[in-house]
Amino acid sequence: MSETPLRIGILYDEWHVDRAAADAEAKAEAEASNGTAPKRKRRREKADREEIHDALVKRGHSCRYLCVDGRARTLKALAGADVDLVFNLTESYAGDDTKDVHLAAYLELLGLPYTGSGPSGLHLAQDKAVAKRLFAFHGIKTPHFATVYQGRLQWADDLQFPVIVKPKREDGSIGIEFNAVVGSIKELMERIDALHADLDSPVLIEEYIEGREIYAAVLGNDPSTALPLVELDLAGVPEGSPRIAGTEVKWERGTEAYQKTKLSVPASIPEELSEAIQATAVSACRALEVRDYARVDLRLRDDGTFYVLEVNPNPWLHTTAEFSMAAKSAGRDHGALIQDIVDLALARYRGTVLQP
Ligand SMILES: Nc1ncnc2c1ncn2[C@@H]1O[C@H](COP(=O)(O)OP(=O)(O)O)[C@@H](O)[C@H]1O
Ligand SMILES: [Mg+2]
Repeated sequence: MSETPLRIGILYDEWHVDRAAADAEAKAEAEASNGTAPKRKRRREKADREEIHDALVKRGHSCRYLCVDGRARTLKALAGADVDLVFNLTESYAGDDTKDVHLAAYLELLGLPYTGSGPSGLHLAQDKAVAKRLFAFHGIKTPHFATVYQGRLQWADDLQFPVIVKPKREDGSIGIEFNAVVGSIKELMERIDALHADLDSPVLIEEYIEGREIYAAVLGNDPSTALPLVELDLAGVPEGSPRIAGTEVKWERGTEAYQKTKLSVPASIPEELSEAIQATAVSACRALEVRDYARVDLRLRDDGTFYVLEVNPNPWLHTTAEFSMAAKSAGRDHGALIQDIVDLALARYRGTVLQP
């Protein structure tokens, strides 16, 4: 626990929608594009901020919520926030997932100390193709890939089917449904077309890695430690669907895919292999300059080879989330984990640790 109680602002994002204006805009867009306008993205509400609030209050801090909702007045209010530290839970701005980078940059400009990754870490991790190039430079295995945008090929490895088609810059499995895994050129072209239409986003095509779904939670800075691995058991996805943590598994509560997939701390990975995965996860975080806490998503083949898919800076900290489960398995309860993250951020501003 840090020595002094702090005034902490828990910063989160909500997307304010002026209903009448949104309806009018949607109508105009639909008319202008003959009904083919890209769909806007929405995220579900999460209760992580209340849990973090309670954990911090229990430890003697005073907490208030700070919210940015896409309107300039909420940015202005943030500029005047009188707090010692911002616990940064933002993931998007005005419904745009790529703008978490800008919010961190804004906190930098305001000189407000905040938890988690800075703009560079958020940017490098968000662009999956950039992240994969950095992994390759550091000798971190990641699936072969290609990127395409509006008919232009940006990069292509020599790929083997099956491949998975996903947006280059999204998270939360947006744009990744079971039909993201394709085995033919026809399906591949259809998927690329659908993603361009839905999200107007560059597309990442990756070799599909058949195997186990493993998450490595990394905590700390110089040194950072990987907590015990967590596995998402995907054996329960419906017959005939690929074993991926797509939209159905992550968000569609009513479905078999959601209900039958469970997180656990796997006992069946040999210690040496676990350690190799953990060391790779730490290297992946360092390669992308993320800070304080991050979750690395990997796939583990039956032959013991493993591949880093992506690094998630500032991952979800709900008590049921992968990160909290990993911390618990390492003997850190949720409150201790939240305090660790506060302490890691404070150390940065007190100049005791040099970081990106
Ligand atoms: N190359 C791949 N091979 C196998 N499964 C993959 C691959 N890429 C993505 N997936 C599956 O899709 C999920 C989401 O992909 P990911 O790249 O982590 O995107 P997101 O940022 O949306 O979480 C992964 O957790 C995994 O189950
Ligand atoms: Mg992921």
